[in-house]
Amino acid sequence: MQNDECRLESQWLTSSVFDSSFCIHHSAFPYSRERHGDVKALLLQQPGRFERIEIDEPPAPGPGEALVRVHRVGICGTDISGYLGKMPFFSYPRIPGHELGVEVLAVGEGVTNIKPGDRCAVEPYMNCGDCHACRKGASNCCANLKVLGVMTDGGLRDRFVLRAAKLHPSATLAFDQLALVETLAIGCHAVDRSALAAGENCLVIGAGPIGLASIVFARLTGAKVIVLDVNRQRLDFCKQTMGVDETIVLGERLVDDLRGVTAGSLPDVVIDATGNNVSMSNAFGYLAPTGRLVYVGITTKEVTFTHPTFHRPEGTLLASRNALPKDFARIIRLIEDGQIDTRPWITHRCAFDAMAGVFDSYTKPETGVIKAVVEV
Ligand SMILES: NC(=O)c1ccc[n+]([C@@H]2O[C@H](COP(=O)([O-])OP(=O)(O)OC[C@H]3O[C@@H](n4cnc5c(N)ncnc54)[C@H](O)[C@@H]3O)[C@@H](O)[C@H]2O)c1
Ligand SMILES: [Zn+2]
Ligand SMILES: [Zn+2]
Repeated sequence: MQNDECRLESQWLTSSVFDSSFCIHHSAFPYSRERHGDVKALLLQQPGRFERIEIDEPPAPGPGEALVRVHRVGICGTDISGYLGKMPFFSYPRIPGHELGVEVLAVGEGVTNIKPGDRCAVEPYMNCGDCHACRKGASNCCANLKVLGVMTDGGLRDRFVLRAAKLHPSATLAFDQLALVETLAIGCHAVDRSALAAGENCLVIGAGPIGLASIVFARLTGAKVIVLDVNRQRLDFCKQTMGVDETIVLGERLVDDLRGVTAGSLPDVVIDATGNNVSMSNAFGYLAPTGRLVYVGITTKEVTFTHPTFHRPEGTLLASRNALPKDFARIIRLIEDGQIDTRPWITHRCAFDAMAGVFDSYTKPETGVIKAVVEV
């Protein structure tokens, strides 16, 4: 069950459905510590327990693949939910990590978009290319989607092999910046879904990383951006650092407060980035006539609304899932051109070997964590 056989599986999987980092043998008999490989990795054995392990050297990249060295891994809500055992799509044991800044070490046959030495962001959505969604260009909601670090092993390891097409290079960005591209892409796609335009009012509910990413792209449209949260510290951050126009603390007079900052009309676009089903249900009541409500946050609970609330403004409800390949290229360009400032984002960082010890603190918003980054 060593490299050759695994390699065969990996090629088969690459040419058919899944990400090459997924290996049937490794998943059936996952991570034997006896093997004493040379590649360090952080394995989430079960909720609440990370283990520092050594795994086998990855195979040389096959056709269409690249071998990359991981430099930075951003920690996000998905990783935290996986750690807390609250993420339904997460399976264990798993090497997490999907927000990555990587360096290309080697490329396989036929790879032309990148070359050894390139620094890249990673699009972690491993799609099949063959389903209805993929054929329509909606790789973000592929029927067979495997997200790196969630349903297949991700980037909390020294090096690994993946599909070269999922790498987006930049000549100038630092690994820290490249690791932020995926989070930003979630907000980029949510704002694209809303079709927000200059002169409109946009309410973003929830000022966590996903809300902040949405704020970045809402501001780029030239719309007026209003942010609602229950957490004053996060709202202060939005006002002082993200340049939003208005912030509102959730209270009993919310609809009046919203009318007050929109010349009476209510927001044209509401982007809910809370993942809270009560907030998501109430959000129907905040829409201006012809308003669009986008759910970028995710809940497993029921969302309810009375139909007249939605009918009266002739509302539109949209889901926003992951992001598209074009978003990655666009975001890299925007950071390169200085239109997106990534400096406020990284509030915490740690070394690879220290991560297991500090991860617990990243689950606590009171530590002021916006984005923690692991240096591999
Ligand atoms: N669409 C996607 O593909 C995608 C990708 C990643 C994450 N997500 C989802 O986005 C959501 C947000 O992620 P995050 O990492 O920013 O989470 P987070 O927990 O850091 O932020 C959520 C924010 O919402 C605020 N909030 C909670 N309830 C509220 C309420 N009733 N009214 C106002 N504010 C409220 C919290 O105070 C917090 O600041 C999660 O549901 C996550 O699963 C979606
Ligand atoms: Zn993420
Ligand atoms: Zn597909």
